[in-house]
Amino acid sequence: MTASNADDKGYLVIEEIPERLDEQHTITTQTLGFLVHPLIPILLSPNDNPPSSSTLTFTPSTPLKIADIGTGTGAWLLDIAAHLPPSLPALLTGYDLVPPSTTTGHTAAALTALHKSHPNLTIQFLPHDMHHPFPTPELATYDLVAARFVSSAMTRGQWKDVLGNVKQLVKPATGWVQWIESCNFRVYDSVPSVAGTAKVGKGVFREVWEGLEPFRELVIGLMVREARDVKREELWRSAGLVDVHEEVFSTDRIQDPTLQIREKGTRNVMECYLGCLETLVGAEGSGWTKERLERVRGEVDAAIDKGVYHALDQVCMIGRRPEEE
Ligand SMILES: C[S@@+](CC[C@H](N)C(=O)[O-])C[C@H]1O[C@@H](n2cnc3c(N)ncnc32)[C@H](O)[C@@H]1O
Repeated sequence: MTASNADDKGYLVIEEIPERLDEQHTITTQTLGFLVHPLIPILLSPNDNPPSSSTLTFTPSTPLKIADIGTGTGAWLLDIAAHLPPSLPALLTGYDLVPPSTTTGHTAAALTALHKSHPNLTIQFLPHDMHHPFPTPELATYDLVAARFVSSAMTRGQWKDVLGNVKQLVKPATGWVQWIESCNFRVYDSVPSVAGTAKVGKGVFREVWEGLEPFRELVIGLMVREARDVKREELWRSAGLVDVHEEVFSTDRIQDPTLQIREKGTRNVMECYLGCLETLVGAEGSGWTKERLERVRGEVDAAIDKGVYHALDQVCMIGRRPEEE
């Protein structure tokens, strides 16, 4: 069986829930502890100083340019904007197959606040399929281009090509790419202090996990998630990036119970997995029916209510575009 949820290009098409993306943004940012990896010399600061890369200066005619690919609700980009020095000239662009509404909802409200607090900032959301080259006038103009949680939208073989498109956007010599995905998926289905939770959770979490099998060989999202060494840094170097660096953070490292990261993160990732499985309903040979999915959904909810959780890691990869290629 192939991943028949996939569209004719072979990757997953999952309908996103804006609230899930916004919550995922909060959890991810707390887990990583940064919006931009500290090795990238664009410092975000609440002070009115320019970003402190000694080589970069930004003016209204050459503003700081940051793009976010597969931006979703724009949560990352809007958070970046809020952390920029208020008077910094900056142009932020969120690309997505389906850009967020800028007239209603959370994205619109954040934009209104930013227009007041950051008079020299422009934020735009534009439609673009990352599988295609970006518009020529945009190429080689960005200081930073980021992508996050877009790996289910490409097959293994397509990652390098998409990375190539993304790389073309950044400035030679000084421009950086940052990419964040979930990785090293493992099912941790017990809570040390609650006896018997392993029994409660194991069955249904495993059922969900094993249900994802058809995607593993095809979809890059499930490749970056594998615990074995999938040589991500090599792929980045072969795509022509230098100063490549990867770092992995466990969602389980934040132990503040008031944040409820285990519970929220588990619900979030299960929503994502179940969304994948939903695409298998009715596919010949998948074994997934509406009734089965409903049962699993109920059991997953009940297990999480009892404190069963699922941990995973987040990988942050960065690389710089060299001066000459
Ligand atoms: C899981 S969401 C992540 C959103 C956002 N990056 C974040 O971290 O909150 C994946 C996003 O990728 C977008 N997407 C899917 N395929 C795409 C494509 N071919 N080109 C651009 N965006 C795409 C989806 O529309 C969705 O908004």
